[in-house]
Amino acid sequence: MEKAMKKLNRTHMCGHLNQNHVGKKVTIMGWVQRRRDLGGLIFIDLRDREGIVQVVFDAKKCGKYFDDAEKLRNEYVIAIKGDVVERAQETVNTKISTGYIEVVARELDILSTSQTPPFMIEDNTKVSDAVRLKYRYLDLRRPKMQQNLILRHNVCKWIREFLDEKGFLEIETPMLTKSTPEGARDYLVPSRIHPGAFYALPQSPQLFKQLLMLSGYDRYYQIARCFRDEDLRADRQPEFTQIDIEMSFIDVDDIIDLNERMLAKIFKNALDIDIELPLPRMTYKEAMDRYGSDKPDTRFGLELKDVSDIVKNSDFKVFTNAIEKGGSVRAINAKGCGASFSRREIDGLVDYVKDYGAKGLAWIIVEEEGLKSPITKFFNVDCLDALLENLNGEPGDLLLFVADKDEIVFHALGELRLELGRRLGLMNDSQYNLLWVTEFPLFEYSEEEKRYVAKHHPFTSPMEEDIDYLETEPKRVRSKAYDIVLNGIEIGGGSIRIHDSKLQERMFKALGFTEEQAWERFGFLLKAFQYGVPPHGGIAYGLDRLVMLLAGEDSIREVIAFPKVQNASDLMTEAPSPVDQKQLKELHIKLDI
Ligand code: AMO
Ligand code: AMP
Repeated sequence: MEKAMKKLNRTHMCGHLNQNHVGKKVTIMGWVQRRRDLGGLIFIDLRDREGIVQVVFDAKKCGKYFDDAEKLRNEYVIAIKGDVVERAQETVNTKISTGYIEVVARELDILSTSQTPPFMIEDNTKVSDAVRLKYRYLDLRRPKMQQNLILRHNVCKWIREFLDEKGFLEIETPMLTKSTPEGARDYLVPSRIHPGAFYALPQSPQLFKQLLMLSGYDRYYQIARCFRDEDLRADRQPEFTQIDIEMSFIDVDDIIDLNERMLAKIFKNALDIDIELPLPRMTYKEAMDRYGSDKPDTRFGLELKDVSDIVKNSDFKVFTNAIEKGGSVRAINAKGCGASFSRREIDGLVDYVKDYGAKGLAWIIVEEEGLKSPITKFFNVDCLDALLENLNGEPGDLLLFVADKDEIVFHALGELRLELGRRLGLMNDSQYNLLWVTEFPLFEYSEEEKRYVAKHHPFTSPMEEDIDYLETEPKRVRSKAYDIVLNGIEIGGGSIRIHDSKLQERMFKALGFTEEQAWERFGFLLKAFQYGVPPHGGIAYGLDRLVMLLAGEDSIREVIAFPKVQNASDLMTEAPSPVDQKQLKELHIKLDI
């Protein structure tokens, strides 16, 4: 019964109507949210992107249209012409801006009918994520999803305005490109014209934005789609969006300063929060030592303490062995948990850290009468006193220790700290702690590849004071890389780049590339760098993550219109899917499954 476009012309959005429109004739269009039939009166909640307004059909006022009103069901699309009137005092809904008025219908046009949707289109609808995503077009009708996507639009708009004002040019870079070395697995696109050759979808516009600096564009940005074939999590999608920025003739402080002002604008506009500038900065080393993480959630304490020096001469072999092997023993004082946690809960914590590679978790409960613990027998009184003092142990506290290689100690205690923070309700949802983490190590050792790999990417500049250690002690070289962290989530990261080709060569060598290998992979960039390169650097934000946090959501799926699920498929379109034999043949591809 679909009709051609109707005779009524829309005058207002449903959600915009309020007391100022009382007495006006309006034409509104939208979806039927709900219908209540009271005999001679039919009430409709009519919904569009801007909100919901109540419409009343009174048989005496809408004549022949009343029969049509009786046919209305949820999600029908209709047009209504009517009068805005004030609601009777006792029927006012103060919760919504349209709640003081209603529209008395004079005419009705049913533009489209609807099957009964698989779930109610409302915010607190009880439905599984799988069903929501299969019917994403219906899910996107829910007010919360609409607010999220509108927020996302606005964040992009504010960023564009800000960067435009500061002289940045928005320039697009290719989607079909050569693999860039960002570390994740590439998505590949086979070439029809070049049998056996593949494009890679970009993991980021990294090399292109550096080339744009070399070409003299000075300040670039792009809201860029990036593709990474990696395991998905709540804050990871195979395709996601970066706010990608690059600048010439600058150093770390210039980039940080500009970005802080941009973030301040976003927080002011989105949440009406005044972010205090400059933002705190913390070196990577301090972040690891205090929080066991390079993206610390600084909304709460429970900081890590290194107690290696105190316990190194004890009789507890688990501790002393770890220290002798070059590792450490570190601890968290879970304040008050000695009194409040049951034995089973403490055992649960032991299992928890094992998931993060720790071999165990030693614990001491501090009580008025003394210490309760399976390990105190290995320590003398002075040692225990020193532990209590160092960890500020007071009656009621629970002291938790992990001994191992630093890497494992940090990972296990860092995660344990977050778990304790969650259990103790220490993460305040209305607090936004932004933090720069700086001076990342330039390299990290890859057990898998048995060589040093770039922690950020191979074009990241080392800090001047550490350049001399590139060949001799790569582990201690710090870089001019920085991450911006919000409540424990990395929302962006970047670096000052190497602009000197001699230094770049040394970097490749330190990464174990021969000259030929480096040229084979990055030849076009190395060639370009022979033609005059300005000092430059930049940053990229995960737009999805930033908007997720601003929207108060805990998955980036909630701020992406058509996201993928855990196994990288799209439940609505059912991508990825098999293709015709003919298509494969054109691409010179034979399947081997
Ligand atoms: P990086 O790899 O750190 O840096 O990425 C920048 C930011 O992008 C977000 N992000 C993701 N978001 C959702 N899903 C993913 N799979 C995903 N992967 C990353 C994160 C991250 O901080 N070219 C460099 C930037 C530069 O040096 O200028 C880069 O891509 O929030
Ligand atoms: P065990 O000697 O293995 O019975 O361990 C004694 C206690 O030390 C238990 O509470 C273990 O959970 C704990 N423990 C074992 N390994 C470690 C470790 N690497 N770090 C901290 N505690 C550990």
